[in-house]
Amino acid sequence: MAVSDAMKQKYGRVGVLYGGTSAERDISLLSGQAVIKALHRCGVEVVPIDVGADLLQQLPAHRLDRALIMLHGPGGEDGSLQGALQFLGLPYTGSGVFASALAMDKLHSKQFWKGVGLPTPKFAVLNKETDWQETLDSLGGVVMVKPSHEGSSLGMTRADSKDALRGAWQAAAKLDSSVIAEQWIVGAEYTVAVLGDEMLPSIKLETDHTFYDYDAKYLADDTRYLCPCGLDTEAEAELRQLARTAFNSLSCSGWGRVDVMANEAGDFFLLEVNTIPGMTDHSLVPMAAAEAGYSFDDLVLRILDTSF
Ligand SMILES: Nc1ncnc2c1ncn2[C@@H]1O[C@H](COP(=O)(O)OP(=O)(O)OP(=O)(O)O)[C@@H](O)[C@H]1O
Ligand SMILES: [Mg+2]
Repeated sequence: MAVSDAMKQKYGRVGVLYGGTSAERDISLLSGQAVIKALHRCGVEVVPIDVGADLLQQLPAHRLDRALIMLHGPGGEDGSLQGALQFLGLPYTGSGVFASALAMDKLHSKQFWKGVGLPTPKFAVLNKETDWQETLDSLGGVVMVKPSHEGSSLGMTRADSKDALRGAWQAAAKLDSSVIAEQWIVGAEYTVAVLGDEMLPSIKLETDHTFYDYDAKYLADDTRYLCPCGLDTEAEAELRQLARTAFNSLSCSGWGRVDVMANEAGDFFLLEVNTIPGMTDHSLVPMAAAEAGYSFDDLVLRILDTSF
C-alpha cells in the first residue's frame, strides 16, 4: 500500500532496525521482514535497515522520525543501541537502556528478583573455582546450565552429574563469560506477552524434547502451543500478574514477553524477560495477540506506539 497521509502525520518516517550481528541474526531477519511488510500494509513510511557496524554513520541520511527495533540478542536488545538512539534523540520502541541491559542478563535479573522476593529457580554462578558436586547438590541434583546473555536456548544444557555439570559449563562458557546453573524445574512451561498496559493471554509450550531447545523453538513441527493455555481463571490471573510484576520490576516498558515455569505443585517461577521477542508469523507474541483479537498488523502498530 502507498504511504497514507494519516500514518505519515502520526508516525513520520519509521526505521525498522533488524538483522544485526548477534547469534540471533537469522530470527531477527525474519522478524524484521514480517514487521516491514505489516507496516507497508498499514500505509506507514518504512525505511528497512539491516544493522551493521556503520549504523550510526548511516542514520543521519535516513532522516528518521522514530525507530522500531527488531533486533534480538546482544548489540540490539541489551541497551547499547537504545543508548545510542537516546543520545541521538531518536525515539524508539520498547524498553530503555537500563531495563534492556538488566533483562538481557539472566544472572542479574535473577539476583534482582531474589532481592525483591519474586519467585525464580534457585541458582549458582559457575566458574573455574566451582565445586561441581557441592553446587549440584545445593541445587537439588539436576540443573539447567545457561550463559547469562544468550537467547534461543543457545549454549544451554541439562546436567545431573558433576562431570556433566562441568561439561555444560565449558560449553556455555564458550558463548559467555557469565554462566549460571539453575535448579531444574519439572512441570509446565508458559510465556506471557506484555503489550503496553495490557497482558495478553498466556501460552503453554509443550515439547517432547528434554526442554524447549533451539530445535523445538524454530525447526520441529511437533512443538505444541496452547493458547488459551488451559489454566483456570484464577491461576491465569496469577500468572499474568506475576509476569507484569516481573516486567515492571526490571523497569521494562512498552512490550515484551516473560518466560515462566510451573513446578508440579503449580507454583510459578520466573525464567527471564525478553524485551524484544520474536515477531515472525510463527512467533509467540503474535499468537497471543491473535487470541486477544489483534491482527499481526494491529500488533505491529501497537508496538510502534510504544515509541511515543
Ligand atoms: N530451570 C529450568 N528448568 C527446566 N527447564 C528450563 C529451566 N530454565 C530453562 N529451561 C528450558 O530452557 C528454555 C530456554 O530457557 P530461557 O527462557 O531461560 O532461555 P533463552 O534461551 O533466553 O530463551 P529465549 O529464546 O526465550 O530468549 C526454556 O524455555 C525451558 O524449556
Ligand atoms: Mg526464554
